[in-house]
Amino acid sequence: MTTLTDLDLQGKRVLIRVDFNVPLSTGDDGARVVDDDTRIRAAIPTIQHVLSQGATAILVSHLGRPKGEVNPEFSKRPVGRHLSLLTGHPVVIAPAVVGDDVQEIVRSVGAGEILLLENVRFEAGETKNDPHLAQQLAAMADVYVNDAFGTAHRAHASTEGVAHLIAEKAPGFLMQRELDTLGKLITDPDKPFVAIVGGAKVSDKIGIISQLLNKADHLLIGGAMAYTFLRAQGLTTGTSLVEENRIDLARQLLDEAGDRIHLPSDHTCAAAFDNDASSTVTQGSIPEGLMGLDIGPQTLATYADVIAEAKTIVWNGPMGVFEMSSFAKGTHGIAEAVVAATDNGAFSVVGGGDSVAAIVGAGMADRVSHVSTGGGAMLELLEGKELPGVKALKA
Ligand code: 3PG
Repeated sequence: MTTLTDLDLQGKRVLIRVDFNVPLSTGDDGARVVDDDTRIRAAIPTIQHVLSQGATAILVSHLGRPKGEVNPEFSKRPVGRHLSLLTGHPVVIAPAVVGDDVQEIVRSVGAGEILLLENVRFEAGETKNDPHLAQQLAAMADVYVNDAFGTAHRAHASTEGVAHLIAEKAPGFLMQRELDTLGKLITDPDKPFVAIVGGAKVSDKIGIISQLLNKADHLLIGGAMAYTFLRAQGLTTGTSLVEENRIDLARQLLDEAGDRIHLPSDHTCAAAFDNDASSTVTQGSIPEGLMGLDIGPQTLATYADVIAEAKTIVWNGPMGVFEMSSFAKGTHGIAEAVVAATDNGAFSVVGGGDSVAAIVGAGMADRVSHVSTGGGAMLELLEGKELPGVKALKA
């Protein structure tokens, strides 16, 4: 695959697909503001490179799921303002994605300037990978760069279709770093390789669990998905979240994995899904009337011991309802254990919205080896799938 530094960009228009799908909220003055700019910051090296080569950067991204309709709530204007603050560079914000007005603006922006198109999902053709939309996007640029790792698992017009229509193309620096880092986990992890998988549902993570079982020495399970596994072991789980239709599958995975799958031995429980509900720790089974909301202290200590021995760690998904302070100890404790192992030389990767939010919230994001900007994209890559947005760059 051609790399970004292989391309001669001087005087060219470069369409950069970024993943600026970031959380927004409404500030005190009523203006929409960016809550977490991790993904915007992560794309800046590619944007700066394009500008430094005397090219025009035309940025395209989705934001949320507006379903093909213009919806001011999902406008990219606040993102453009934020990007301008971060780069110290003016950002021209187009009022739409394509059309005559946008073409006029594309013609007017010069070398060294940044143009941000409106939310590409305002166009119904985006998620349908409509060839006409792909053609309109391709017509704006001489070069296509895909730096949207977080969206590379989607075969959409701006991530896949357009790549086939522009001969000069390459992954951006962020995309390249994600592919190199996550690729190493699949192909050549130093051992012991410890995978920590959490989250609510076994069904969301079945692909990655099956794949990691082929590679990892230990798979530590947390979050509500653990209760489906406990039921497969014949334990009771009270009113905890359980996927009844996945219990057989969990049993099958336990049979295959033997003692490489680790399950919580104790649980922090409450009678209600409420931060103020009084909590209690139970061992083994969870009694009637209680629900598991976090791994217990004994489980955390056991998991931390396994993590301390690791040379490679991947973590996706929280250990409990970490958004509620009463049930965040397991997730924070795992973050601390991963950081301590990293300090001792382990290579550690954290990905997935919730685990990233937990490690960022704990102020430890810069103390692990790599924080992935991909949720679904990271899972699919680790499942061994080829991402359409990456494949199209090779064609
Ligand atoms: C993400 O946040 O995972 C990516 O931006 C993809 O968004 P999507 O799930 O709406 O396609």
